[in-house]
Amino acid sequence: MGLLVLSCVVLALAIIKLVYAHFFSPLSHIPSASVLAPISRLLWEFPAEHRGQVTLALPKLHKKLGPLVRIGPKRLSFYDIDIYKQVHKPGSAFVKDPRVYSQFVQDGHPALFSITDPKEHALRRRHMGLLFNRSRVPFLSQMMLEEVLHFGELLRVLSTRNGLIDLIPTCRALEADIVSRFAFGNAIGAVDSLLSAGKELQIIRENDLQSSKMPLYTNFPSLVKTVQFLLSTFSNLTGRYRSSLESQIKFEEWANDQLKATLDPETAPGKSFLKVMAGARILEQCALSEAKEMLGPGTDTTSATLAHILWALSLNKPLQEGLVSDLAAAKWPTDMTALESIPTLMACVMEGIRWTGAAAAMLPRIVPPSGAVLGGIQVPGGTMVSSSPIWYLRDETAFPDPDRFRPSRWLGRNNKDLATLQNEHYVPFSKGASSCVGIHFAYLELYLSLSQILRRYCIEPSDISMVDIECEAILPPRREWVSAVPISPLRVHLSERDL
Ligand code: HEM
Repeated sequence: MGLLVLSCVVLALAIIKLVYAHFFSPLSHIPSASVLAPISRLLWEFPAEHRGQVTLALPKLHKKLGPLVRIGPKRLSFYDIDIYKQVHKPGSAFVKDPRVYSQFVQDGHPALFSITDPKEHALRRRHMGLLFNRSRVPFLSQMMLEEVLHFGELLRVLSTRNGLIDLIPTCRALEADIVSRFAFGNAIGAVDSLLSAGKELQIIRENDLQSSKMPLYTNFPSLVKTVQFLLSTFSNLTGRYRSSLESQIKFEEWANDQLKATLDPETAPGKSFLKVMAGARILEQCALSEAKEMLGPGTDTTSATLAHILWALSLNKPLQEGLVSDLAAAKWPTDMTALESIPTLMACVMEGIRWTGAAAAMLPRIVPPSGAVLGGIQVPGGTMVSSSPIWYLRDETAFPDPDRFRPSRWLGRNNKDLATLQNEHYVPFSKGASSCVGIHFAYLELYLSLSQILRRYCIEPSDISMVDIECEAILPPRREWVSAVPISPLRVHLSERDL
């Protein structure tokens, strides 16, 4: 009898919740992603997010349902460039959602990416501008060039050893070494690990996997912390460490050693982010967290973009040879200004960033307490609103055939209206106060690595019978979490160029 009463009460509460969510909640007039979405974010959003499908499914729903779609009881997805500009404008009152961004915090010290308080964020960003501003980034050319040349050697060894090269892990090793050398003063040794052991450095692989685990961390933070605590207690008691925990411990030791070396005038590296930031600008431990946190957004994005561009060039010999001849005519420059003034290089890199859409996250923001009008619709304060910058990069009006790698769309550009539309929709680094601080760093890295790899190697498709084809590459199938991950390897052959 008791059980029956309890069941009736639970059922009644569920019906009340359902009726309230669908008919009386302040968001009830906004179309829902599914009948379950208004009741709980775990019923529609989480499963889609967990499968790496949420950013792939939502644009299709927006096409049917309009610019605002309800994806949870107090959560909206928006897809409209004017709303995007409103939410992400400089000085915007829409703050980063602490529930999501706090999951990126390292050692209890929020870094630029995970700081959600606008004042604290602006201050940290001012400090970091010293290293990331357009005028400072060209000083990084020499360091990047050394890493790219070392990477060239890895490509030679892998070509001889394996024949085919999978560009995703290989490019990730290069970018991990560049970003870690910039951040800590010394490269983490990702290229050396592939060279000597033929294996990806575990911590770099783990960092990549972290992106796919984010939906778990943000939706079940306490559960994840409990499981992590239990696993690490078990490891400490038994002395048996899972490889992911072991690699995390090694990374922590390595990072602490870098900090010690930085603080000792005798061993300090010539230049590094850690050296500039530690002590003088922020607490040493905060600077260390900042350097560690940078490894994620700095590595996956640029490396996936480089891998996609090289793969696309392998399928289009005339495009590749045209680019090589323009680079040779410019005498293979290595400084930023000369590189960015080669139109074909600039077009391949801009198109590569657009086409790859590496930073796929939905960038959740909280509507200010006074509420806001989004696309003519009143949205109450406290609602979480989100949109992925990569949706605008695939806008079919601004970028016809968006899934095709077509650098020519950035050349000539005689149609002024189309050019304006494209400029408006080109938001791979987002906009406003929290837009990517590494934008100039990323462009320099991509210009330099692409040109220096092409200087030494001819990139050929994995199917060697297609060597002379001229094909516009189509975006490989993928899953999207914080970053986009192709489902299959991106393989190419390399042959040394005879220049
Ligand atoms: C193609 C390459 C890249 C793309 C597409 C990209 C994209 C983005 C996007 C969309 C954001 C905004 C995130 C948000 O609002 O939550 C962001 C932020 C950020 N990115 Fe990048 N990024 C790239 C490369 C880099 C590199 C190379 C670095 C560092 C070396 C970097 C460091 C950061 C940091 C620290 C932030 C946080 C900025 C802030 O909150 O003020 N990124 N990036």
